[in-house]
Amino acid sequence: MAIRLSERVRRITPSSTLAMDARAKQMQREGQDVVFFGVGEPDFDTPEFIKDEAVAALRAGMTKYAPAAGLADLREAVCQYLYKEYGLSYRPKNIVITCGAKHALYNVFQVILEPGDEVILPVPYWVSYSEQIKLAGGVVVPVMTTAANGFRMQPEDFAAAITPRTRAVVINSPNNPTGAVYSRAELLAIAEIAVRHDLVIVSDEIYDHLIYDGLAPTSIPTLGPEVAARTILINGVSKTYAMTGWRIGYAAGDEKVIAAMADLQSHSSNATTFCQKAAIKALLGPQEAVEKMRAEFARRRDLMVRLVRETPGLDCLTPQGAFYVFVDVGRLIGRTVAGETVRDDEHLAEIFLEKAKVAVVPGAGFGMPNYIRLSYATSCERIEEGFRRIKALLAGG
Ligand SMILES: Cc1ncc(COP(=O)(O)O)c(C=O)c1O
Repeated sequence: MAIRLSERVRRITPSSTLAMDARAKQMQREGQDVVFFGVGEPDFDTPEFIKDEAVAALRAGMTKYAPAAGLADLREAVCQYLYKEYGLSYRPKNIVITCGAKHALYNVFQVILEPGDEVILPVPYWVSYSEQIKLAGGVVVPVMTTAANGFRMQPEDFAAAITPRTRAVVINSPNNPTGAVYSRAELLAIAEIAVRHDLVIVSDEIYDHLIYDGLAPTSIPTLGPEVAARTILINGVSKTYAMTGWRIGYAAGDEKVIAAMADLQSHSSNATTFCQKAAIKALLGPQEAVEKMRAEFARRRDLMVRLVRETPGLDCLTPQGAFYVFVDVGRLIGRTVAGETVRDDEHLAEIFLEKAKVAVVPGAGFGMPNYIRLSYATSCERIEEGFRRIKALLAGG
């Protein structure tokens, strides 16, 4: 018997980043030496003192259900953390703990969107936003950005996309896939428009600590009480503390929205109890490991940007945050690479993987064809090796 899938899931486009990663990992299992530029997670291990805390929590019997909204002491720790980092004054009732930031985003769209509500999404965007918005019955309204404006949505483009059905806007700074970081003034201009049109701002700040060139991140709720009241801040421990597999994220914002997210979780699922204990340690414990990882990412970024620019046919801006370089491959489309005429960025990514054993993610999945995303969450040696292969492939014609 063929079980029919729902219309809802049939409309989902599978994550292109995960698809490419799965294919590359399969090649690796077959014994091939693949350079991974596709990954979206730090290659560093979780700092030892955080792991110790999880082990201690397990030994202390923290093996039972946690409250749907999260452990009270982690919700309190998130408040302390957001105060320490940004001077934000949240109470535990404004915080919900989720199974990673991705889950927090999923829940936000579920609780704020009615069918047909429009959500403005600057392009390129992280692959999951568009599918999560659709799953909640929402309609994605893409707003293009360009390399010329640093891949940052311009306030006039944002304003022009607003209709009576617009309910929310998603801001992700530092950005995946471009590494773009909005300035405080740019965010203020966008936030003022959101206030004027009574929109919810979903602010994904998951890369806030992976920021370079002496820049400081701006947390959107710091832009003023009117902005804070309509912002749902999303963050978590995945990227900052190299804890992607622990699945701990959170949302901070309006009490009613947060309570609705917790209610939703009470009927689906919520974060692992002993991982929540470890997350408290991550947020409030020593922060030296964060700076060490950040400094290493900065070094790798500089290397990768130099190698991209040295490679004929490739070009990029210098990303100011996250751990990705968004590479313009427009000049390679229509050209012959490894004996094949490159049709588009997806085809090029396939050629890179099959012929050079370098895994990259095509830009099309992020809503912007003619680009590929390269992650520098890998060692300088592997970055050098990957570019040796790419250069040789492109030089071969
Ligand atoms: C922009 C952005 N938001 C959220 C997430 C998901 O974070 P988490 O692993 O905590 O679910 C990612 C992960 O790749 C991301 O790039």
